[in-house]
Amino acid sequence: MGVLLFLFLIKTKLGMKRVLIATEKPFASSAISQITRVLRETGYEPVLLEKYQSKSELLIAVSNVDAMIVRSDLVDREVLDAAVNLKLVVRAGAGYDNVDTDYAREKSVVVMNTPGQNSNAVAELAIGLAIYGVREFFSGKSGGELRGRTLGLHGYGYVARNVHRIARAFGMKVIVYTRYSKSQATAEGLEVTGSLEELYALSDVVSIHVPARGEHIKSVSMAVLKHLKEDAILINTARKEVVNEDELCAFMAQRNDVKYLSDITPDCAAVFAEKFAGHYYFTPKKIGAQTQEANTNAGVAAAEQIVGFFEKGDETFRVNK
Ligand code: 3PG
Repeated sequence: MGVLLFLFLIKTKLGMKRVLIATEKPFASSAISQITRVLRETGYEPVLLEKYQSKSELLIAVSNVDAMIVRSDLVDREVLDAAVNLKLVVRAGAGYDNVDTDYAREKSVVVMNTPGQNSNAVAELAIGLAIYGVREFFSGKSGGELRGRTLGLHGYGYVARNVHRIARAFGMKVIVYTRYSKSQATAEGLEVTGSLEELYALSDVVSIHVPARGEHIKSVSMAVLKHLKEDAILINTARKEVVNEDELCAFMAQRNDVKYLSDITPDCAAVFAEKFAGHYYFTPKKIGAQTQEANTNAGVAAAEQIVGFFEKGDETFRVNK
């Protein structure tokens, strides 16, 4: 009887699909408990690789897993080649620019994200940065207030929609420039500007909410920035790739009334430190989605999507069709 039970357990263990949770920037521990519970209760074996220091650790860890959950972790050709059993990558979050989605498709690996799950956390940070900027970085200098100011949303995805909700409660006037969510924005009573230039020209605070893809890459360029109002505040909780950083630096050199607050340190951070002190702030690392709630929402959604994919073939959130 004991031997039979042992064999049954071995068989079950061998048949279990393994799900790697690979996070260089770990989820909150309460989120990990919930993610691993969802996986275990549905017969999946979670494998944790947190705070890894080198890519080689990731290459070893992916070699024998069926699925993986990542955050901003790089899933490139080398990682996909090392992952010989991999069928599914779920980016627990919105932006999947860290995953080579085309190569994954070539290798028949499905890639998904978890849209909307961490958007409130990022939106709250965007508003927090706006307050920090308008209050002169809490320096003691006289600042301003958000109430009555115009907030321009560059893009209208899940994060921007949450920023809109919060900004309205602050008494801000909110306007937006969007190509893809115009009807949603107008249905919510938002004024949609005819161009990005117009958005930047009309806003006291601009908050960037576009993905690092296609026409959005370097869309925050001198041609757009030059329209910013006097004393404008530019908030970036999206990606550095959407900003033309050389042109941003050139613009900041011309306009010492403008402030740039970002959750993503630009490549030209040294130029900011040397020339624009008192006009910028960068978080020490990307913290937009770094809340227990966001980690739990995105991580549990990722685990559930993995189960749905293997058990029912559900590809709802696939991004590399
Ligand atoms: C996202 O794309 O969802 C956010 O940028 C969060 O990224 P993170 O999981 O690396 O914090």
